[in-house]
Amino acid sequence: MNKNNMLRWASDALEMLDQRALPARVDYLRFDSAVAVAEGIKTMVVRGAPAIGCAAAYGVALEALRLRARPREEFLAGIEQGVSRLAASRPTAVNLFWALNRMRAKLGELHKNPVSQVADALLAEAHAITEEDVRLNRDMGGHGAVLLRDNMRVLTHCNAGALATAGHGTALGVIRSAVESGKHIHVFADETRPFLQGARLTAWELMQDNIPVTLIADNAAGLLMRLGEIDAVIVGADRIAANGDVVNKIGTYGVAVLARRHGIPFYVAAPLSTIDADMPSGEGIPIEEREAGEVTGYGGTRWAPEGVAVRNPVFDMTPADLVTALITERGVMPSPDREQIRKVLA
Ligand code: MRU
Repeated sequence: MNKNNMLRWASDALEMLDQRALPARVDYLRFDSAVAVAEGIKTMVVRGAPAIGCAAAYGVALEALRLRARPREEFLAGIEQGVSRLAASRPTAVNLFWALNRMRAKLGELHKNPVSQVADALLAEAHAITEEDVRLNRDMGGHGAVLLRDNMRVLTHCNAGALATAGHGTALGVIRSAVESGKHIHVFADETRPFLQGARLTAWELMQDNIPVTLIADNAAGLLMRLGEIDAVIVGADRIAANGDVVNKIGTYGVAVLARRHGIPFYVAAPLSTIDADMPSGEGIPIEEREAGEVTGYGGTRWAPEGVAVRNPVFDMTPADLVTALITERGVMPSPDREQIRKVLA
């Protein structure tokens, strides 16, 4: 995946790989303001919790660079407006708010410095967040790889790979690290209706790296588990509550229930920035609902009857007791609960 980084800095603009065009085309789009990046997040040019966080950080930096010749008051007010636009782009992945808070903290530290110095410092912070993300994913991968034995068949849902992060990936990062250590891992990728992140992105990303992958319809997972063809499940997360409840792509809960039914370990890989310490349980995490058109068809083809009622919640909540272990950059936490999460964040 190194040749196809999700995000790249091009001296005065952010370039993002347009995930909507994959796997048909590898297109990079240019973004030069917070509003443009917010629109890119909303319309799914970039998706996946850590990648959204990195993109938002660059959105703040771009706004600062764009306004660096303006008087201080105007500069600061413009950045605040940019932060608000970015915060309104998607509601569920907490990494977005984590990254915006970190950028605001940097702004708070430096707000008395000359405006152009502040802009440079915000860009440096966005670079730091992005570089850290790759490092953390590699650490997470190293910890999680120990859980995977040679020749395991691992099911994943959605795309928690290099495309969903600044590089290496969370769930797919664990698989990549296991493969790098010499293990043979066969991935089963749920197609992940309705937006098809598994079929379009996970399958493509793993094939780029020559990691064996078999694509399945979401509703084939139960049968394969019953037939003994799945040894473990690994997914990422968009937000983890203080008690260990996990919100991730719609369908994850069903996979976790099936895994429990069949005695298959269900692992979640996510950086600490995905944990929302202020959210007591998963019940309070906002679940984004997207437009009906994502369910009634795809890519310009409509298959559902005109006028049919549609619900399109795009995330669901898996209670902590279904999670065998949480893998973070700090290590593997078996049976995550409030106490262990408090300790790891302390
Ligand atoms: O709607 P998306 O594609 O942004 O949802 C992404 C997911 O649910 C991923 O599994 C999650 O963000 C983990 S990404 C490392």
